[in-house]
Amino acid sequence: MISLADTPLPTIPRSAPPELALPVGTTLDRFILREQNAFPFATGELSQLLRDIALASKIVNREINRAGLIDVTGASGTDNVQGEAQQKLDVIANIRFIRALRNGGEVCAIISEEDDDMILTGNANGKYVVAIDPLDGSSNIDVNVSIGTIFSIYRRISPVGSDATVADFLQGGRRQVAAGYVLYGSSTILIFTTGQGVNGFTLDHSLGEYILSHATMQQLRTGSIFSCNDGNMADYPDYVQTYLHTCRQRRLTSRYIGSLVADFHRNLIKGGIYLYPPTQKTPFGKLRLLYECFPMGFIAEQAGGQASDGQQAVLDVTPTELHQRSALYVGSPVLVNELLATR
Ligand code: AHG
Ligand code: MN
Ligand code: MN
Repeated sequence: MISLADTPLPTIPRSAPPELALPVGTTLDRFILREQNAFPFATGELSQLLRDIALASKIVNREINRAGLIDVTGASGTDNVQGEAQQKLDVIANIRFIRALRNGGEVCAIISEEDDDMILTGNANGKYVVAIDPLDGSSNIDVNVSIGTIFSIYRRISPVGSDATVADFLQGGRRQVAAGYVLYGSSTILIFTTGQGVNGFTLDHSLGEYILSHATMQQLRTGSIFSCNDGNMADYPDYVQTYLHTCRQRRLTSRYIGSLVADFHRNLIKGGIYLYPPTQKTPFGKLRLLYECFPMGFIAEQAGGQASDGQQAVLDVTPTELHQRSALYVGSPVLVNELLATR
């Protein structure tokens, strides 16, 4: 018998390109397995669910990359539950994620930005429910600007084997067992947390694998970026206007992409604050609590950041409706606290 432990690795010839000598790194699958093994009673179902989401995101990524070539840009001609025009890619991404979650078998129900009602997957024995924004920042699709996917996972509270109920989704942000986002940007990156910190995986297109690239992400305590839709300024609550005025006086940098995922990700890495206050058009805020604010709030807190709705930590908001909206102020804790101190 040959013991590999005793066998030295073959050396790479000096003449070989340097990248050949570098290890590829940790794949998402291996990382998930390692996290799962750290929990003695883990059954692997959540791991499988995360892998299903990763697979669907790779398919969506492929379709986004070919968008200009396969007639998937532009409006689909339909509206979603919020009365917003659906883009063709909104609809396609929605189908891809729902299909992957249904086929995976771990999820008994889904709510999506693109569907009015809760979707029962037919897997009554699935232990989990998923809330998803399949395509975030859809106004940026046609102009080749970064877009994303946001997801939030709960363990169901209804009995396994029965139909899921709306209450499974209204448990509150602190009951999320996992949350994450995929950013389809200059590279494609999947960021997620299961409550054990935040890790990021960059898609290596040549391998078709997500590889750990951002281990144990930490939100910078402070930063110099503020991100909001300046056109709505006159509608913002007075204290938000006052705070933004001080940001300008201090010559902070204004950066706003209009895709929550992209704006959040930049501020997570560089330090900053993202604001979507209530406006006249959206008096309760524009962003959706269950599949935008809760998952981003969970990730922010896990990375040492802060997320508020202006009154309380966003994760403490009690949800009452599936497509409920909320204001959101999220990012570096120093900046979020400065904003809240101006109330
Ligand atoms: P979605 O495309 O999923 O509807 O989300 C759009 C959201 C969010 O991603 C972004 O930060 C915000 O809407 C932008 O809104 P404004 O265009 O009003 O600034
Ligand atoms: Mn969105
Ligand atoms: Mn969306």
